[in-house]
Amino acid sequence: MNRSVRWAVCVLAAVSVAVPAVGAMKPASARQVSSNEARAQHQSARAGAGAEPWWKNAVIYEVYPRSFQDSNGDGVGDLNGIRSRLGYLHWLGVDAIWMTPIYPSPQVDFGYDISNYYNIDSRYGTLADFSRLVATAKKQHIGVLMDLVLNHTSNQHPWFIESESSRTNPKRDWYVWRNGHKGPDGKLLPPNNWQSVFGGSAWQYDKKTGQFYYHKFYIQQPDLNWNNPQVRHAMYNVERFWIRHGVAGFRLDAITTLFEDPKLRNEKPLLGKDGKPVINAFGHVQLNDSLTNNLPQVHGVLRQLRQVADSYHRHILLIGETYLSSVNDLRKMYGAHNDELQLPMDMQVGFINRLDVARFRKEINEAETELHGDEPLFVVDNDDNHRWERYADAAGVKDPVERGNIARVLATILLASRDTALIYYGDEIGMVTTVPTKKSEVRDPVGIRGWPKNKGRDGERTPMQWNSGPNAGFSKAGVKTWLPIPPSYKTVNVAVEKKDPNSLLHWYRRMIALKHTNEALHDGQEIMLNTRDEHVLAWLRKTPDGNAVVVACNFTGQPRTESFDLKPEGVKGRRVKTLMATPGDASGQTLHAVHLGPYGVFVGQVE
Ligand code: NOJ
Repeated sequence: MNRSVRWAVCVLAAVSVAVPAVGAMKPASARQVSSNEARAQHQSARAGAGAEPWWKNAVIYEVYPRSFQDSNGDGVGDLNGIRSRLGYLHWLGVDAIWMTPIYPSPQVDFGYDISNYYNIDSRYGTLADFSRLVATAKKQHIGVLMDLVLNHTSNQHPWFIESESSRTNPKRDWYVWRNGHKGPDGKLLPPNNWQSVFGGSAWQYDKKTGQFYYHKFYIQQPDLNWNNPQVRHAMYNVERFWIRHGVAGFRLDAITTLFEDPKLRNEKPLLGKDGKPVINAFGHVQLNDSLTNNLPQVHGVLRQLRQVADSYHRHILLIGETYLSSVNDLRKMYGAHNDELQLPMDMQVGFINRLDVARFRKEINEAETELHGDEPLFVVDNDDNHRWERYADAAGVKDPVERGNIARVLATILLASRDTALIYYGDEIGMVTTVPTKKSEVRDPVGIRGWPKNKGRDGERTPMQWNSGPNAGFSKAGVKTWLPIPPSYKTVNVAVEKKDPNSLLHWYRRMIALKHTNEALHDGQEIMLNTRDEHVLAWLRKTPDGNAVVVACNFTGQPRTESFDLKPEGVKGRRVKTLMATPGDASGQTLHAVHLGPYGVFVGQVE
C-alpha cells in the first residue's frame, strides 16, 4: 500500500468521543449555530465590558487561493470558489481566513511578487468579487485577512520599472541599489556576499545603469528601501485601502527582512553542531542572516503599521511572518508598549519537527510564561513547509492508525493550548505532502533550482480534496488542475470525513468548538504537568474561578498510564470527565490513572 492509501485507512479507523455539549452559550434560534458564531455572540454580549478583540484565542485558517476551489474551470482556484466554501469553514468553526496574495502578479512566486497593490489578479477575480467574499464571510462571522508583502515588489511593478530606468529617476531610491566592486581578475563582483533565500547571490546586476539591486528572494522580487519615507508612506496607504475594503487584518510577509546592514558588511557562515559551515540545498555555504534579517529598525515600521491599524474603529489584526529562534526575539515583536504586532507567528512550537516531549514542553511553557501574557500564534503547517506528516515520518511510524493519532496529537497541541491557532487548509482532513516525482512537473522555481535536493513547495500546495469525484471537487471534470490532485483524494476528503463522526475532520471540529466554548480551553492559564515525564506531554488549563481541563498526549507508540496530582495547582476537583479521546482512551479514566494508547490523546474536564 502506498502512504496515501495507508493514511486514508487511518482517518477512517480512529475513534473519538463526541463532545457532550458544545458549550454554555445557547444558540439564539433553532438554526444550527457554529462554534465561531456562538463565540461571536458571546463576545458581542460582553462588548463594552472590556470585550476581548476578535482574534484572541481564535482559529485562523490559511487558504492557498490557487488550490482551494476553482469556480470557473481554468484549473486555478479563485475568490468565487473560496466564497462558495465559506459554509464549510463556518461549519468547521473558523474565525478568520488568511489568503496568500491575490493581487495582480506575474506569479513568479505565486503572488508574492506583486505588480499592483490596489487590485485583484484576474486569475482570482475582481475587486467586486473580493467585496462579495468579505460581505458573505462577515455574515458567517468569518474575518478576511490579506497577505501584505512589504519587503519587495515584483520587478514588473511600475515603481521598479521606473527605478531601474535610470540612476536619476525619482523612484531610484525606492529600491536598494549599490555599486559592485572589481575582483582580483578585474571581473565585476556584487557588493558583498549576501545570499537570496531562494539560492545564489542576493544581488542582481543591471547592465543599463551599471549597478546591482538587492533581492532577498527571487531576482524578480527586488527589495524595497524602507529607509525611504516615500516607500513607507506608499505602503501605509495600501494598508488603509484594504482596511477600507473591509479586511479584518493582515499577515505581514517576510516582515523581519525589511532592513539590511547599511554598511553592507559580509555575513558569516552558519555553523552546524559539528562547528562546520552548513551547506544549503542549493549547494552553497549557508550564511547566518545576521545582517539581513531581524534588524532593530523593523520595530519602527511595525509601530507605524499598528498606528494606521488602530486608527480605525474596529480591531484590525496584524500577524507577522516571524521565523525567530528565541522567545526573547518573539516577545520584542509585540512592541515594548504593545504597540507593534498583536500576533507574531510562533514557529518555535510547531516547527520542532519531531515528537520530542521536552522540547514541546519547553517551547509551549515559554510562550505561556515569557510573553508577558501576550497571545502566541501557534503554527504547525503553512504553504512553505512539508505538512504535518513530517512528524510521523520523523518518528518512523508507518502504521496508519498511529499516523492518524499523531495528526490528532498535533491538532490537540494547536487547539488546546492558550493561543490563537493557525490551521493550514487540508490539515483538518489529513492531507499529506505530495511532492512532484519529476523535475519537469515542478511549478515552484525553488524546486526547479534546488532539484533533486530541494523539490520546492508544490507538495504542500496541492488542490483541496473536497470529495471523491472528478478533480476531487476542486475543479470540473476534465480540467487540468494547476497542480495534480494527490492520489489520496478518493478517501481523504471532506465529504467522506464529514459522514464519519470518528474522522480527523470531526476531531478538528470538536477541538475548535471546545476552544471556543469551554472556558478553561478558551482562555485558561496553561500549566505543564508531570514535567519529568519523557513520554507524555500533559498540561492543565484553568480559569481563576476553578474551571479546569487536563490534556495528555502520548508521544510514543507504547501504551502509557499517567497519574495527575492537581492539588499543588489549586484545583479542587478529584474526578475527570472525558471531553475528547482517541480509541480506547475514552472511558474508565480517573485522575490517578489516565490510560493512553499509542500516540493517544485524552482531554478531560476536572469536576
Ligand atoms: C514567505 C512566503 O510564505 C513565501 O511563500 C514567499 O515565497 C516568501 N515569503 C517571499 O515573499
